[in-house]
Amino acid sequence: MAAPAVVPPERPAHQPRQVRTVHLQRWKDEGRRWAMLTAYDAMTARVLEEAGIPVLLVGDSAAGVVYGYDTSLPVTMEEMLPLVGAVARSTVRPLVVADLPFGSFEASDAQAVESAVRLMKAGANAVKLEGGEARASRVAAIVTAGIPVMGHVGFTAQAENAIGGYRVAGRGEAAAEQVVADAVAVERAGAFSMVVEMVTAPVAARLHEAVGVPTIGIGSGPDMDAQVLVWQDMAGLNDDRRFSFVKRYADLRGELRRAAEAYAADIEAGTFPGPEHSFER
Ligand code: KIV
Repeated sequence: MAAPAVVPPERPAHQPRQVRTVHLQRWKDEGRRWAMLTAYDAMTARVLEEAGIPVLLVGDSAAGVVYGYDTSLPVTMEEMLPLVGAVARSTVRPLVVADLPFGSFEASDAQAVESAVRLMKAGANAVKLEGGEARASRVAAIVTAGIPVMGHVGFTAQAENAIGGYRVAGRGEAAAEQVVADAVAVERAGAFSMVVEMVTAPVAARLHEAVGVPTIGIGSGPDMDAQVLVWQDMAGLNDDRRFSFVKRYADLRGELRRAAEAYAADIEAGTFPGPEHSFER
């Protein structure tokens, strides 16, 4: 089936025809909060655009929800690029941010720029890069190349082996200071915003006060400018209940299972296809 033509849906009054990084900063300055969701395919991206979601992240969470890997580490640039293209081609208004996957930027600033350029050529409007102070030179190099960078501090899944697993970040004064220092370093390096993942709420609030760019929380309490979730978590397609910070707004898993069961039952009973689904001539 051919992809439907891309006609931008009606937009929320405050949103421009195309969301740019400057709009996110303006919304922060006006005290307006906004939502970000992940997206990995054309049809879902269109629905999220219709829902007025201004920023779509083609996250390396694709590793699990698209490709079935256990962690985010195996996903490659070659696996990310088609997803970025699908989301970018099928939407008009949202800012499309693409994750730099593990292995695409660690070796050098030059490698980071090269990988960021590939994601932009696939259709991204900005890239996201995990890491704090230690990655600031990568952020600066990509920004110098003319590519907007969204930082990502606090818990960073790509470093789970170094960190010792999935851990809340910022517990204890030294850890808290490090998280805030990471955020400040990423901002100084030129990031236009940053994801703040699994940081204790009081430390996230401190971080929020310490930086001037928009902060996008995930499991980091209520004081952020924006929030992000993996869409399959938000909509209840994923039944992984490990993360207490996820709020489920639907039961898509149940809906899809019920639809598939009803479809199979119809076929087994001979009630589908009916005359209305058949070509008489
Ligand atoms: O890859 C991803 O989906 C992310 C979000 C969890 C922020 O980085």
